Parts: sequence; structure tokens; C-alpha cells
Amino acid sequence: MAYWVYILRCADGTLYTGTAADVDRRAAVHNRGKEAKYTRSRLPVEVVYRESCPHKGAALSREYAIKQLSRRDKLALISQYERKLGSCMKKAAFIGAGNMGGALIQAACQAMGADQVIITNRSAAKAQALADTCGCAVAADNAAAAREAEYVFLCVKPQVMEGVVKELAPALRDKPDTVLVSIAAGLQIATLRQWLGLPNPILRIMPNTPASIGMGMLALTGEPDAREEHYQAVETILARAGRVERLAEHQMDAFSAVAGCGPAFVYPFIEALADGGVKVGLPRSQAMVYAAQMVLGSAALVLESGKHPGQLKDEVCSPGGSTIAGVAALEARALRSAAIEAVEAAYHRNVELGKV
Ligand SMILES: NC(=O)c1ccc[n+]([C@@H]2O[C@H](COP(=O)([O-])OP(=O)(O)OC[C@H]3O[C@@H](n4cnc5c(N)ncnc54)[C@H](OP(=O)(O)O)[C@@H]3O)[C@@H](O)[C@H]2O)c1
Repeated sequence: MAYWVYILRCADGTLYTGTAADVDRRAAVHNRGKEAKYTRSRLPVEVVYRESCPHKGAALSREYAIKQLSRRDKLALISQYERKLGSCMKKAAFIGAGNMGGALIQAACQAMGADQVIITNRSAAKAQALADTCGCAVAADNAAAAREAEYVFLCVKPQVMEGVVKELAPALRDKPDTVLVSIAAGLQIATLRQWLGLPNPILRIMPNTPASIGMGMLALTGEPDAREEHYQAVETILARAGRVERLAEHQMDAFSAVAGCGPAFVYPFIEALADGGVKVGLPRSQAMVYAAQMVLGSAALVLESGKHPGQLKDEVCSPGGSTIAGVAALEARALRSAAIEAVEAAYHRNVELGKV
């Protein structure tokens, strides 16, 4: 799993180098104030450099190397990074401004600047409302958006994707470098290529709805000969949507079953925990906050500590205590088996949906 080395610039100009699995979350924790432990002052910080490493050990070595640099060399590293980022920034079009498209449009506007984003939607009013919020432009139609952009994100339902791709083909005939990026669950690149009938590069991403608040888990895949610069550009466009991992295409349906569908498995769990809280005397609104914050914190601890969830569970269960009594009640109702079956069912449905 990729790990990041980052440099934060504090409002007083001080630079701080560190490592994290999720850089934006780390910076957000600092900027929330209370837990400001990454810099000596409590002034706000911004992420000015990020470098992906194959694992935590590599990130720690790289962090050490950067920490040895003089301030001047660190600033040179940051400018080099900003130049590279600038050259990755290409105009992006989004076809479909619904739940998922809308979340990605907001993230892209933050990462690239709204002037680099152009959007369309079947009902123009929806696109206009989003554009009014984000500051991006609305194209007259899908083909016009595709003509303007170097990266075209296809954010419509799988059932209407064939029509949309065929509609775009004439506009892309003279633009072989324009990259298509599909977010549709299940639909394979080979199918999209057949509909397009053109050699334009095609990538796929699988996002999830927490991307709307920058806490998504996204997978990115391409054809075997996909170019590194295309991956990097998509990663840059989506940098504000959350964590992006590259995957082989044959793993996308499995990823989607866990991370794409997963939020809908977790929400009923949060709701049910809150129901339990209400049953034993807590007000509903408080019970919901306690349950949701607990799930957020527990997930963060799994990622931050790198510990196995079973170990973290064991650390909470004291002999003869209340927590192990609760764990036993969940086991009696086969919580883990139900979760495994939910992922399996979602996976099989993804595979079915892909057979269009
Ligand atoms: N929701 C998720 O959690 C999730 C997660 C991962 C991937 N995805 C993928 O994301 C894609 C979109 O899902 P969604 O949940 O965002 O659906 P959605 O909310 O229904 O959004 C789809 C949007 O596409 C628009 N649209 C339909 N036909 C169009 C056309 N010909 N030209 C331009 N726009 C068109 C729709 O416009 P109108 O509303 O005006 O009809 C709608 O706003 C799907 O392929 C899905 O597999 C979704």
C-alpha cells in the first residue's frame, strides 16, 4: 500500500516534513486546531509537497533524506514539485453531475482550479447549480465538453454509458490524445473501447461517496500500455477526493464491492449502534454522533497504527469485561460472516452489471 512523504508549510513559513498514509487527513487534523501536534506553532498549515513511496519503510527513509536538506534545497524541491504539478494539470470535462460526478467535480475544482473544469448533465439545471457553487463552466452539450478537455470523466450510469460514449466519438475523432476516464461500476475498458471505436487512451476509476468530503477511497486502472503521465494526471485531478490506489483491472469489481459499495454496509451499522444507544438511554442525536465518530476514529487507528484489526479488538477486550460481552453478542449473530457475504454479493452483482 502506498505511503506518502509530505512537506507542510506553516503560515509562519516553517517547513515540516513527515510521513502518512493519508496526507490531507494529517493536515486537516492539524488545521482543526485542538490536536495540533505536527508543528510547534498552532498556525494553519498547507501541504506543499507530496511523494508516494511503495511502503512505510521507504517513506521513512525518504523523510530522513529530506530532513537532511537545507531549507534552500527543500524550497527547490517544493518548486520542482509545483512545476511538475502544473504541467500535469490539463483541462478536465465531467459528463454527468449526479451524486458521484458531483463529488468528483468539487474535488477537481479544488485540485486544479475551477477554470480548468467544464461539466455537462442531462438536466442542465443540475449542472448549472453545481457550477454556481464550484465556479466551473457548463458546456452546451457533451460533445462540446469533450472538445474542450484533455481528460473526459464519464460519470453516468452504466446503462446509459454506451449512448454517451457513441455520442462523444465524432468529437474525439480528431483528438486522439484526449483521455477518457470512466467511473462506471463493472464496465470494462474493452467494452468502452468497442463502443468508442477509437484509439484514445481509456482509464477507469472506482470512487466512493466519501470522496465528496475528500475522504474517498478510489482505485485507478488502465490498459496494460497505459501511460504513466495519464495515471499521474488523473491522480492529480483527484488528489482532493481522497486516497487513490492503482489496481489491475481484474481487481476492480472486488475493490468496488469493498470500497465502492462499502459505505452502504457501514451506514446501517452506525445507525444500529445508535439505536442500541437510544435503547439504553442516550438521546438519538448524541448516540448518532458518538457512533459515527467512533467508527471514524477506529478506521483511522487501523490505518495509522498498521495493526491488524483483530489485535486492536483484543487490546480493547479486558477479561470478563463489557467489551468482550458485546463482541460475543455480535459473533452470536454472525456479524463477520454477514459482512463477508455482503461483499461477495456486491462483487457478483458488479460482474453481472459489467456484462452489458
Ligand atoms: N454512487 C456511488 O456510490 C458510486 C460509486 C462508484 C461508482 N459509481 C458510478 O458512478 C456513476 C454515476 O452514478 P451516480 O450514483 O452518480 O448516479 P446519478 O446520481 O444518477 O448521476 C448520473 C448523472 O448522469 C446524468 N446523465 C444521464 N444521462 C446523461 C447524458 N446522456 N449526458 C449527460 N449526463 C447524463 C444524470 O442526469 P439527470 O439527473 O439530469 O438525469 C445524472 O445527474 C455510475 O456509473 C456508477 O456506477 C457510483
